[in-house]
Amino acid sequence: MANVLSGIQSSGQLTIGNYIGALRNYTKLQHEHDCYFMVVDLHSVTLPQDPATLRENIESAVALFIAAGIDTSKAAVFLQSHVPAHAELGWLMTTLTYMGELERMTQFKDKSAGKDSIGAGLFTYPSLMAADILLYKATMVPVGDDQKQHLELTRDLANRFNNRFGETFPIPQPYTPEVGARIMSLDDASKKMSKSSTNPASFILMLDEPAVIRKKISRAVTDSGREVKYDPQNKPEVSNLMSIYSECSNMSIADIEAKYEGQGYGPFKKDLAEVVVALLEPIQQRYREIRESGEIAKILREGAEKASATANATLREVKEKMGFIV
Ligand code: AMP
Ligand code: TRP
Repeated sequence: MANVLSGIQSSGQLTIGNYIGALRNYTKLQHEHDCYFMVVDLHSVTLPQDPATLRENIESAVALFIAAGIDTSKAAVFLQSHVPAHAELGWLMTTLTYMGELERMTQFKDKSAGKDSIGAGLFTYPSLMAADILLYKATMVPVGDDQKQHLELTRDLANRFNNRFGETFPIPQPYTPEVGARIMSLDDASKKMSKSSTNPASFILMLDEPAVIRKKISRAVTDSGREVKYDPQNKPEVSNLMSIYSECSNMSIADIEAKYEGQGYGPFKKDLAEVVVALLEPIQQRYREIRESGEIAKILREGAEKASATANATLREVKEKMGFIV
């Protein structure tokens, strides 16, 4: 049994990229491992957030975790800010991280590009993420492809700590889906589908209404030609839609190619919309029930309690090894 930890930011509403790349794997891993899943609200404020919107996005994300199938009797579901050990180990990890390591992070480069004032938290973000993972001595971290570089830094920090202060942390590995680790934007297959995009046509939200999903998919950019063929190099737009189809239907890419051979993009996109709607409708139904039940506060209290027990023990061990008086 491994310790599993992951987190999703509350900087917008969750997309099917979040679901396919990460959330769905949470629900798979919870049966066999000791799982901790959180909304990383402290990470979210590394870019400016409107308070009322942030609060709504946090609650909505928690409800979607549960609606997607996370069982709180198996996995701890909590908010990063409810377990202060994250901020504290985050600081200690920042002191172990080199500037050069942070400067190399592509997420920092992307998110800071073109901005004149960049919060220091956006720069040190990966050190906090390393703390998130190491607090639970997690070995498996379900994430999408874009987080692999942050995971590498986490591994380096774990090794660095172990070398300086004695064996403490196991070395964590990313756990990514085979096909859906990088779902791209519907308007531009060279960009990751992202909840913080300013163009709503670029993403499908887990809470988009069926009519909206149908419209977004029918308008999704497709490559020239008409063949439904998986070829990410030459047909990135259609290949991305095929990945979404495959992940949402459990049909293999080869099955999808065979099914739409000679049919063109029209019928393929029409069916894709139905596959996505069929996947999301029951999740949306459960989501509404959870929001109405008023149970979120209780879920979060219990989750934070369970997470704190593990996190506080690790933090104490770390501080003792570093020479603090605990
Ligand atoms: P974020 O929305 O950046 O907090 O991402 C939360 C989780 O979802 C991380 O594990 C990401 O790697 C994953 N994720 C986000 N966007 C995508 C995407 N377009 N495709 C696959 N995984 C994604
Ligand atoms: N950086 C991750 C993202 O943007 C979110 C995150 C924060 C995370 N802490 C984490 C993911 C710990 C996995 C483990 O997607």
